Amino acid sequence: MNILVLNGPNLNLLGTREPGIYGSTTLAGIEEQCRALAAELGVSVDFAQSNHEGALVDALHAAARTHDGVILNAGAYTHTSIALRDAIAATGLKVIELHLSNTHAREAFRHVSTIAAVSVGVIQGFGAAGYGLALRAMVGLMSETRS
Ligand code: DQA
Repeated sequence: MNILVLNGPNLNLLGTREPGIYGSTTLAGIEEQCRALAAELGVSVDFAQSNHEGALVDALHAAARTHDGVILNAGAYTHTSIALRDAIAATGLKVIELHLSNTHAREAFRHVSTIAAVSVGVIQGFGAAGYGLALRAMVGLMSETRS
């Protein structure tokens, strides 16, 4: 099982970016935690981050050939990007939408997601720990699909 953890705009700034909302764990710290958990679960995990919408679309296209599923924190593009929504639909990739914060408890413009309807499920509001929850959920989902 090969899982991609794909992060969108401004998530490279985790650790210093609005820590009251996003916590103090850096993206490198999250990657380290995910790699440790992936080793425990016996799956392979890759990490990528981009601030550019088209690069995220390209990463999804590539992942459809190389990965079994994607954990996607699309950042602000979650609320605006039809291109990301279409890329998920076009590739048929299994995607778990992820957010550190509970977007429904925040500004109204964050209540809308273009990708939720084409995702398997959504995990949000658990901070950095959400990535581990999503990884476990993805592995569980794939084990079910394969059995
Ligand atoms: C976020 C929530 C988005 O609304 C925001 O634009 C982000 C981060 C989160 O992880 O909580 O960049 O995706």
